[in-house]
Amino acid sequence: PAPGWAIDADVVVVGSGVAGLTTALRCAAAGLDTVVVTKARLDDGSTRWAQGGIAAALGEGDTPEQHLDDTLVAGAGLCDEQAVRTLVTEGPDAVRRLIDTGAHFDTTDSGDIALTREGGHHRRRIAHAGGDATGAEISRALVGAVREAALHTIENALVLDLLTDAEGRTAGVSLHVMGEGQHDGVGAVRAPSVVLATGGMGQVFSATTNPPVSTGDGVALALRAGAEVSDLEFVQFHPTVLFLGADSEGQQPLVSEAVRGEGAHLVDGDGVRFMLGQHELAELAPRDIVAKAITRRMLDHGAEHMYLDARHFGARMWEQRFPTILAACRSHGIDPVTEPIPVAPAAHYASGGVRTDLRGRTTVPGLYACGEVACTGVHGANRLASNSLLEGLVFAERIAADIAEARPPRTEPAGDPGAGDPAPLLAPEARTAIQRTMTRGAGVLRSADSLAAAAEELEALHREAAADAEGPSGAKAVVPGVDAWEATNLLLVSRVLVAAAREREETRGCHWREDRPDRDDAHSRRHLVVRVAPDRT
Ligand code: SIN
Repeated sequence: PAPGWAIDADVVVVGSGVAGLTTALRCAAAGLDTVVVTKARLDDGSTRWAQGGIAAALGEGDTPEQHLDDTLVAGAGLCDEQAVRTLVTEGPDAVRRLIDTGAHFDTTDSGDIALTREGGHHRRRIAHAGGDATGAEISRALVGAVREAALHTIENALVLDLLTDAEGRTAGVSLHVMGEGQHDGVGAVRAPSVVLATGGMGQVFSATTNPPVSTGDGVALALRAGAEVSDLEFVQFHPTVLFLGADSEGQQPLVSEAVRGEGAHLVDGDGVRFMLGQHELAELAPRDIVAKAITRRMLDHGAEHMYLDARHFGARMWEQRFPTILAACRSHGIDPVTEPIPVAPAAHYASGGVRTDLRGRTTVPGLYACGEVACTGVHGANRLASNSLLEGLVFAERIAADIAEARPPRTEPAGDPGAGDPAPLLAPEARTAIQRTMTRGAGVLRSADSLAAAAEELEALHREAAADAEGPSGAKAVVPGVDAWEATNLLLVSRVLVAAAREREETRGCHWREDRPDRDDAHSRRHLVVRVAPDRT
């Protein structure tokens, strides 16, 4: 659809989590005319659901070098060491600047930032807020700062496609906006710098910790724009998500790693602590190892879930340290003070995404990616717990600095901006079919057969959509709207994810191939990079 309205800016930031809002605030502070567009409200998205916290070498005796070591081990041989070094060395000051922006972290009696542990960390390194409501506090502080700075924001704005000029440089984005007055309908923000900070794609699976808005929009847009995407096969499954029944779909309540960090035990139905003896860190082994051990135990026992036992915390500690999780459990009839919590792994984090350099630049000039949508190289094959908020902060600042330094001139979108339809649009009802296919075929446990079946089902959906779009009247059968765009984006990222998972014929990090149980450093210690030709989407 051709834009009906257009506004001009220096930078358009797409997304309003920690990555997006930090980028926007820093760009605006550098004097750049900045517009933030976000698919729902400013405080929707994954950041506000983050519980455990933000990792940084802030504690006495801790060093960026130790944080680097833990991150590299979790990343299972595929981290970009320079990117990790950047993250861990710039991280502590980035957290301090976040505090200056207004975020309040929990402190010890002596006034220092209180730090906890999570999987894969050999030290207490995780700063938290409100006990287990870290993301909510960060979101509150950043949204407050954005309002105070009177940044131009457009909510309920689904970004459709990247606009480019005659030289193929970024020239803005087209948008579909619902109910925002002057910016209603299809329009465009024209800007020479576009920052994708759209978050993850957990909604690709039936059960996920991600909110409904996490539909891979940024990766899909980048693919349609011809940008390189990398490491999509590495989907992290969080080990401990509250189990609400095998058929419970959509966003599921997280039970933070910090609960294990404070001493909770994973036990099976017989009360046996099965992580003992499996890894030197037991329940605090890196996340992929714990998720695999839980899944293996579930399969061995024919069980739908395992248990997290933290009754020994007592009521007072539960109430003070983990109020969010306590309330979520109780709202589902489970009292962690008196009974073990039923838990199972669920999709949590996309370790891969749109490939960037250390300044957040993608392979399309003027297009940046930041936060979960990006693949900066810091996570490798498996992200270390609580490194994601930190990545958003650190690389947001780098991106803002890069744009402020380059200050590219404004440029005109070439041709018909509406020509970049994601043809063909998928019917919204396909969302559930995609999610079930992905959970069955490309979930925590994968094999050549399961992935081949998933690929076939996804191709069938794609063919059906193409046939519908070319219906007898030539008119699109599907009404363009947020639901249809989300389903279309989910299908595109699922197809690429499955293709990458088929190609990676080994088990590494959070990519677990039952038919290829070993890590194959000789052939597979490499990144799978995908770039889709525009007519192949
Ligand atoms: C958690 O609190 O367990 C989530 C932390 C993370 O995903 O980094």
